Amino acid sequence: MAFDIPAVPGFAFGGDYSAEQWPEPVWVEDVGLMKTAGVNLATVGVFSWALLETAPGRYEFDWLDRLLDLLAGHGVAVDLATATASPPPWFSHAHPESLPVGPTGTTIWYGSRQAYCPSSPAYRTAAARLVEQLATRYAGHPALAMWHVNNEYGCHISRCWCDISAAAFRDWLRNRYGDLAGLNAAWGTSFWSQRYTDWEQIIPPRDTPSYPNPTQQLDFHRFSSDELLACFRVERDLLHRLSPGVPVTTNFLGGLWDLDYWAWAREVDVVSMDHYLIAEHPQPYADLAFVADLARSLAGGRPWALMEHATSAVNWQPRNLAKPPGRLRRDSLAHVARGADSVLYFQWRASKAGAEKWHSGMVPHAGTDSKVWQEVVALGAELGALAEVVGSEVVADVAILLDWSSLWAQRQPSQPSVDLDPLAVIKGWHAALTEATITCDLAHPESDLRRYRLVLAPALYLVSDAGAANLTGFVAGGGTALVGPYSGVVDDNDHVRLGGYPGAWRDLLGVRVQEHFPLPAGARVALTDGGAGSVWTELAVPTDAEVLTGYADGPLAGSPALTRRAHGAGTAYYLTTLLAGAHLRDLLTRLARDAGVTPVLPDPPEGVTAVQRRHPDGRGYTFIATDGPTAPTLTVRRDGDPAAGTAPVGAAPPVASA
Ligand code: GAL
Repeated sequence: MAFDIPAVPGFAFGGDYSAEQWPEPVWVEDVGLMKTAGVNLATVGVFSWALLETAPGRYEFDWLDRLLDLLAGHGVAVDLATATASPPPWFSHAHPESLPVGPTGTTIWYGSRQAYCPSSPAYRTAAARLVEQLATRYAGHPALAMWHVNNEYGCHISRCWCDISAAAFRDWLRNRYGDLAGLNAAWGTSFWSQRYTDWEQIIPPRDTPSYPNPTQQLDFHRFSSDELLACFRVERDLLHRLSPGVPVTTNFLGGLWDLDYWAWAREVDVVSMDHYLIAEHPQPYADLAFVADLARSLAGGRPWALMEHATSAVNWQPRNLAKPPGRLRRDSLAHVARGADSVLYFQWRASKAGAEKWHSGMVPHAGTDSKVWQEVVALGAELGALAEVVGSEVVADVAILLDWSSLWAQRQPSQPSVDLDPLAVIKGWHAALTEATITCDLAHPESDLRRYRLVLAPALYLVSDAGAANLTGFVAGGGTALVGPYSGVVDDNDHVRLGGYPGAWRDLLGVRVQEHFPLPAGARVALTDGGAGSVWTELAVPTDAEVLTGYADGPLAGSPALTRRAHGAGTAYYLTTLLAGAHLRDLLTRLARDAGVTPVLPDPPEGVTAVQRRHPDGRGYTFIATDGPTAPTLTVRRDGDPAAGTAPVGAAPPVASA
């Protein structure tokens, strides 16, 4: 699952190369420029199905032959796309039943990209046929370093509500529940007269008068993720068979929450992630750090591939802000700090036509006499100098539990408060740790947690019995856990765990919550330690726990906000409200310290973040970034270096600085 492709021994540097958009003389110019910039990996052919198969079964590979030969001849390895992300118009026209359909029954047409139903047999067959051709033809090509299946599965169409999907959903449900009795029990269909008496009655959660059944919606999310994964598997298996030994990836998309990437990560040879800064995000670098840490966690802690990010502006935000000087380097190395062993962009040359013509590239419209190009060339050289970092790993002693089923279940309507967004809570806790320079992983609730000292469950509304027992076992074994509000309240079917919340961990925490008390919009409650809670409170009664902080005012004055209970060799904390800013950071820092976790910097100034990477032989590197709005800096220091701590990066013997 790690990014380790023999054809590219150092950092991989490059990006999507949409050569099909340019006449061939430009290709010749391109390979020269790639050499100048130190580009060693190009992702080729992502959206070229219409040019590779111009009519059913009529393949035209000559241009791709020439392109791969040219790249190989100039030392540029290729991440070769299977081109299945965008079926050509001839295909969609011939197979209108393959077009995706929305929940209201509206057909989503071709003329853009990704217009296919994941369950469509016609799509799957045509895609497999193309992959077979590509794999057979290019398996032995000297340029081939990796296969790139499809592109950002689910980016535009992650679910389809058509009749073909409905039939596939029923098959998936038969497989999950065996019989209708099992399904009716799991979906709680005694509610609102929803009992099913025949499989044919079951449909995807289409547009309904009021809320569709929550477990039906949850299962439809699970099914849809599995259905796209099945598309991936078809291609991957063909590639493994016809092109053995060449790693297969598909690029995940940071910020897409429709695919259960834990399940996907098990299926890819290389975890690769795309990330785009949201220019007007209040904390863009917190988001970058979160996605990069997620990518590393999906890769099991090993180096991963940053497959796409932008040299400057993108084209799809309301205001596409260009990156000021220095940001290109800072953003790219921020991913490297968190375990990326590649710096790849969308895309090599900015397009001249099409919906992405205003998206930046490594070669901008202005050409090489430009800020972007100069920064690209400088970064390529710097990555060469940083090559010793490749293969080192980021070590984290803290994990945040994250589960897609839980997100899908909680992010449905008809929850107690629209203000309690689980993803915002999870990201908030991650950001607080990042500010404290405490490195953390994301972890599946049922994964082996023993390598961590502190495990956080900021927002784990749904947890399976196995996940619940896993956290309890982690604490019993000596770990420290902090459970956030409204976590552990429902089971795998989104049924309430009865007898007082949080049913999954009442005993572990020694707390019994009688009732949830969400707060009115914008309201705050005072806490006995001088802090404040927002969004959410709970009427909790300690049954076997020490109350560390209570509510000082509001309807719950006197009841617990933060509790602690010793369990086995470890300690379990429960927080019944949301803390913000410094209070959250202080709490997490204190718990981390008590659990024996050392931050990278003992007392980081505001706006400074730091991460360490280390080789098994002990050679390590500290990446320190400042996030000021105008002058971002990022330095890389060799650990144990006598100059470390005095010289900013770049000073002798620095590794790199800005
Ligand atoms: C990605 C996609 C690329 C390109 C890019 C633009 O999501 O994979 O093909 O569209 O966005 O930012």
